[in-house]
Amino acid sequence: MKQYRSIVILTGAGISAESGLATFRAANGLWNNHRVEDVATIEAFERNPAYVHDFYNELKPELNKARPNAAHLAIARLQKEYPTPVHIITQNVDTLHEKAKSQNIWHIHGQINQAVCLNCGHILETFGDVDMQTVCPNCQTQGMMKPNIVFFGENLLYMDKVEQLLNNCDLFVSVGTSGVVFPAAAFVQTAKYHGAETVEFNLEPTSNNFYFDRHIMGPAGVTLPAYVEELLQNLQS
Ligand code: APR
Repeated sequence: MKQYRSIVILTGAGISAESGLATFRAANGLWNNHRVEDVATIEAFERNPAYVHDFYNELKPELNKARPNAAHLAIARLQKEYPTPVHIITQNVDTLHEKAKSQNIWHIHGQINQAVCLNCGHILETFGDVDMQTVCPNCQTQGMMKPNIVFFGENLLYMDKVEQLLNNCDLFVSVGTSGVVFPAAAFVQTAKYHGAETVEFNLEPTSNNFYFDRHIMGPAGVTLPAYVEELLQNLQS
């Protein structure tokens, strides 16, 4: 019988691929036909905020109509049926974990349906467009809203919580991330250093290969449900 006392699952764009959403480092290296440097850096936003707002306003409907796939549902099942805490640290700005009815979701790179006021810090939740005309509902300032997406050059969100989760988990599972963007790419090292067992789900070995005890290759929509079943079965045996 094997029961982990705390499970942390890091997810990346690969978990949403089977829901039809683009990953970042596909063959052409573009994200939704744009260079990451043109739409996901603080310099790009300062250079042309309207262009960056347009990009995310166009992306919102696509992300919001996507449905969770079997991998998201498997994690939600684990959270429901496993007797100890299962936390999700996600690099994704889509809300497919929420749509799968998961809990304990930490969006360290922000969320597509949020904007943040650069004047007062207010977080605006909206499925609608945000642009340089948007007025902050909290401080009434116009033209200071930014997509609540963590751009390259900005600090990640919830890092105190992430640190505490990584230092205390005994199972760290990484799903659908290439492991090339830091600091998320170093989370496995922190978990391993604190004694966690580490498992990687991907289509192919990643640059973090060395830090994982187990590598489960294949589409997460197939491999993750089987793994969750294995974890739940091991509670009984
Ligand atoms: N099942 C499992 N893994 C998959 C699947 C799938 N169906 N499809 C793709 N993958 C894997 C790819 O092999 C790749 O290793 O998912 C990974 C996606 O990697 P990236 O496109 O680099 O996405 P991610 O790792 O989430 O990027 C991290 O980079 O641009 C920034 O902020 C952005 O959050 C993003 C961060």
